[in-house]
Amino acid sequence: MRQLRAIKSDIEVNLTQKACDITRDAFNRVLKFIKPGVMEYEVEAEIIHEFIRQAATGHGYNPIIASGNNANILHYTDNNQECKDGELILLDFGAEYANYNADMTRTIPVNGKFTPRQKEVYNSVLYVLNESKKLMVAGAIWNTYHEQVGELMTEQLIKLKLISSTDVKNQNPSYPAYKKYFMHGTSHHLGIDVHDFAGRYTPFAEGNILTCEPGIYIPEEGFAVRLENDILITKDGNYDLMGHIPIIAEEIEEIMNA
Ligand code: GLY
Ligand code: MN
Ligand code: MN
Repeated sequence: MRQLRAIKSDIEVNLTQKACDITRDAFNRVLKFIKPGVMEYEVEAEIIHEFIRQAATGHGYNPIIASGNNANILHYTDNNQECKDGELILLDFGAEYANYNADMTRTIPVNGKFTPRQKEVYNSVLYVLNESKKLMVAGAIWNTYHEQVGELMTEQLIKLKLISSTDVKNQNPSYPAYKKYFMHGTSHHLGIDVHDFAGRYTPFAEGNILTCEPGIYIPEEGFAVRLENDILITKDGNYDLMGHIPIIAEEIEEIMNA
């Protein structure tokens, strides 16, 4: 059963897509709702309203609504702080629909406009997401994939002046320098459970659904950025089940200011 679960049938893919579609609608709703002064729990309430309105069972997992430095607490779920002008807010939530889960993260500016530094970090995370997605193909091996993502992230962290090439040269191979700012895995299987079972040494295969969720966490600058989409491995590549959810920084700003 465990091995079967990792390979999704068409029906399972469609149910996951539906969970992603409802998640998209909730995100579009909060894009119009968030402004300086709202409370994190008010944002959470907007999300669950949209979920229930569309017959989702509820949240697939405890949603993370983390403004400012709260985003540097990886499993922050207190969701009880005020969202302030100038801060980013990290939103990690997904609908459960007919027992299948979506798992999405977006990071947006509370006041509708990224600062230059926030945008620079955002675009690095988006770059790593897009490049990592290209590596998510049938036959890819978990460890190799994660090492390749680590290299992509290392390049970006040097560009952002968070680590130096000397740090990389002197790094401990079992705890590379990039881990200071990106300390979690990039992908997990998704299905009936948000963190679905699959063997670590089993190559990615057609019909797998995995998340792709790079992030950069900078407590000393008071913010973090994570982006997360759900990816279906296909015969000849992959398909982004969240490809229709706004993610380009300028597009996010445009919707928030419309
Ligand atoms: N929301 C849980 C995760 O992204 O893995
Ligand atoms: Mn995830
Ligand atoms: Mn998530």
